[in-house]
Amino acid sequence: MQKFDIAIIGGGTGGYRAAEILASHGKKVVLFEKSNIGGVCLNCGCIPTKALIASAEVIEQMKTSEKFGIKSSHEIDFSKIMARKEKIVKMLTLGLQKKLAKMGISIINKEAFIKGENLIISDNEEYSVENIIIATGSVDAGLRGIDFDGEDVLSSKDILSLNEVPQRLLVIGAGVIGSEFSTVFSYMGSKVTLLEFLPKPFFSTRSSLIMNEGEKILKKSGIDLKTSSSVASIDKEKKMVILSDDSRLEYDKVLIATGRIPVVNSDAKNLGIEITDRGFIKTNNNKQTNIENIYALGDCTEGPMLAHKAYYDAYIASFHILGENEEQMKMCDVPYSIFTIPSISHCGLSEDMCIEQKINYRKIESSYAENGRAATYEARQGIFSMLIGENDRILGVTIIGKESDTLIHEIIPLIHNNIPYTALKRTIHIHPTLSEIIQEALF
Ligand code: NAI
Repeated sequence: MQKFDIAIIGGGTGGYRAAEILASHGKKVVLFEKSNIGGVCLNCGCIPTKALIASAEVIEQMKTSEKFGIKSSHEIDFSKIMARKEKIVKMLTLGLQKKLAKMGISIINKEAFIKGENLIISDNEEYSVENIIIATGSVDAGLRGIDFDGEDVLSSKDILSLNEVPQRLLVIGAGVIGSEFSTVFSYMGSKVTLLEFLPKPFFSTRSSLIMNEGEKILKKSGIDLKTSSSVASIDKEKKMVILSDDSRLEYDKVLIATGRIPVVNSDAKNLGIEITDRGFIKTNNNKQTNIENIYALGDCTEGPMLAHKAYYDAYIASFHILGENEEQMKMCDVPYSIFTIPSISHCGLSEDMCIEQKINYRKIESSYAENGRAATYEARQGIFSMLIGENDRILGVTIIGKESDTLIHEIIPLIHNNIPYTALKRTIHIHPTLSEIIQEALF
């Protein structure tokens, strides 16, 4: 029997980050991954989709190049776009594998089963361990009664393997995944119809600002957004989606992006690990399950299903194993970006949440339209909005516009460290930059 300090099940963002932290603090770590190291994020999530978004951004630049005094035309070579995406994924996964191996982490490319509080079995081999970390992630939720077929009815993973740009792409679910893929394929030339069951896209953000501005961005990207549209069934033979009002929409490919569900294997359940009503592994603030030497983190536990939340969980769990208590932050303070063109970024509470929770706030705002650098980029459509509460503390911030996903990092440390927004007044922002949009809101 092999002996390790820690066994980690799942080599996605949460799993590999925990492995890195623990190994760098001298722990003997074994990491089990039945598929590819890097998990969804690196192999079929954040990274490949952002590679495609980057190609779409180039198309957007070409389309608007005349504004810059440059005449251009463009032709899409989809196979090269997909090959570039693959190359990026390969480069990053290979780099990660090498890094983990160099750190002395044992990687077992097999499925692992928890057989006891200190016992793992994988490929008929037994592993005796002090701690176990479950980081088994999530999968596409799909739609009841409709199976993915990998050909025409696609999951978010399947769509990354298309060989050609579909003429008519129908996307079900205007959340983050549906909207990002709709953006990519609309810029690539597909006629995209995006169906959303609720009255607005991005409903789960609980922010009217994001829902309304997001709707404008999607429409401006050429996407035919149909909200309050409920899918009843799919006629795969006729390639037709049938809505609850009996209207029918034809497609060449359909993407189902109706959310994700946690992966919790039966071995964890059999061991008596507690599961929440919504199917997540229950954990305390240290990411411990009800069995104290077994931790769980990332998408298989509660909180937003985001790679960087999994990184954060890994940090909390690893340092707890190492004997340090890190304070758990409020999950609404986990920032996020939606990579439409332009991007939408947010951290903390929205106005709607403040009203709902009866929290007093005042709002400070500025616009990209007043910013010199934005004018040079022809990127004058954009908003900065920050909510201020008692003692000048920042309750929440939303930035919508070019490079919002980078700009928001000026505010995140203030929120996470409870620093009043007035600290920003004492900072000199380089001129001319987009970051001055933040400064312009302060006075
Ligand atoms: P989501 O929950 O954000 O959106 C799913 C959407 O589908 C919802 O708006 C829902 O109302 C709609 N829907 C559900 N059933 C429907 C039906 N029958 N007909 C029409 N619409 C229907 O989930 P999504 O986009 O799949 O993302 C899953 C997770 O992955 C989220 O937690 C998301 O934050 C995360 N993610 C984050 C990214 C980022 O940070 N940029 C990128 C991709 C995913």
